[in-house]
Amino acid sequence: MKSAVIGIDAGTTSIKGLLVSDQGQILRQASAPLQLSTPQPGWAEQDPGAWWDGLRQTLRELSADPPMPIAALSISGQMHSLVMLNSKDRSIGSSILWCDQRTGLECLDLTRDYGGEDAVLASFGNPILTGFTSPKLLWMKRHEGERFARMARLALPKDFLALRLTGRLAIEPSDASGTLLYRVRDGIWDDRILGLLELNKSVLPDLVPSGSVIGPLICPDIPSLRGIPVVAGGADNAAAAYGCGVEKTGDAMVSLGTSGTVVAITPKPVVDLSGAVHLFRHVTAEGFYHMAVILSATNSLDWFRRRFTPGLSLSQIETLAESSPPGSHGLLFLPYLNGERTPHRDPDARGVIFGLSSFHSQGDMMRSIHEGVVFALREGAERIASLGTPLDRLRVVGGGSRSLLWRRMLADNLNREIWTLRVDEGAAYGSARLAAEAIGLSTEGWVKLVNRTEPDGRTADLYKDWYHLYQDLYRSLRDRFKDLSQVLTRKG
Ligand code: XUL
Repeated sequence: MKSAVIGIDAGTTSIKGLLVSDQGQILRQASAPLQLSTPQPGWAEQDPGAWWDGLRQTLRELSADPPMPIAALSISGQMHSLVMLNSKDRSIGSSILWCDQRTGLECLDLTRDYGGEDAVLASFGNPILTGFTSPKLLWMKRHEGERFARMARLALPKDFLALRLTGRLAIEPSDASGTLLYRVRDGIWDDRILGLLELNKSVLPDLVPSGSVIGPLICPDIPSLRGIPVVAGGADNAAAAYGCGVEKTGDAMVSLGTSGTVVAITPKPVVDLSGAVHLFRHVTAEGFYHMAVILSATNSLDWFRRRFTPGLSLSQIETLAESSPPGSHGLLFLPYLNGERTPHRDPDARGVIFGLSSFHSQGDMMRSIHEGVVFALREGAERIASLGTPLDRLRVVGGGSRSLLWRRMLADNLNREIWTLRVDEGAAYGSARLAAEAIGLSTEGWVKLVNRTEPDGRTADLYKDWYHLYQDLYRSLRDRFKDLSQVLTRKG
């Protein structure tokens, strides 16, 4: 008999859900928007209760009078965000999110107390960064001691939601990888960092394999789904990669969303000793991937359009950008509007438009923004390749991948053919795949590559000089970004 599964992604802007047939077809979609609160500049919080309300609403919509029986569900979610639970497994206050920047000092102190960055990289495969979880715990201990003392257990967003559905708190390796409490290469929790935080191991969720069944759904709020298996999904980036078939060495994905990522499966869990790109466990058993993250991808173009050319549609912008040649007549854009994660790890970096002359047109401006985003992704991809991780079968996903111009620029700059997918629904589709496989369904044939863009050798050559100039620009401005940040702090 035919059956369907549900894939959920607990993202930052919404809880998104898909009802997917056992053949991989999307039968229904639902989502519930989420608000982000910014109590102070650089802070970002959400109420776990709002995720739960959003999940229940999404599940109700997906499961009302379904076209075929629903056999399982799985949840992926935003990485790193900290949920603190009391002894009754209720969340204590709001969650500090992955994009929150308040923990600069805690990162420095934890790194020092752990024995320096080399020791941190050797254990965790990643440096201690503001977005990750363990510095948030130290911040809580220092600034909200009462709340910290009440914490009986901790969770990441998707695991908190699965707990509400099943009564069991579990985490799987792809999300544990972003906590900096877990030794990515060894696949175990790290006693030393728990000691520094004065935390007992009992605060940690059960560690289970991705794609394993956490338990049956027992929550009475969604009676139509009672009893179906709830499956451990994955970190959103891992689940998104799995949803587009990135699972074997050589598979890679570029995501052109609000932020941008490059994800590539690595044959060996090699740590980037400069800490520039991340090493995480994948949702496949024994799989690892490298990931580069740029903070403003399509956001760069959206920002420019909203502020300076609000009347223009995306297709008008693309036509304008196409009227300018590669290199945008010498105009270069650094897309660091919100600082940059990889490879620079620089929260003070800022956006730059360089090389302006009275000759330049609107088209040059539009093209240079597209190019700046691609150059930033190219830096990430080159860093990943330098670790011995191949990027052979490259897919492009996310809103920006609908632009042929952006796809061509990526193919030319990464010097590889690049494919789009039949289904481009991000992490929720990867969760659905995990749910299906957990109940023994085959997902062969779910992922289909549909549209190929080939690199053009001549254009690729034209980009070389512009790309090197782009790289030099950041290096020469790095100290000035620090100065700017200090002046801004002094002026309040
Ligand atoms: C990954 C990261 C983000 C979040 C977004 O390291 O911080 O991609 O997972 O949800």
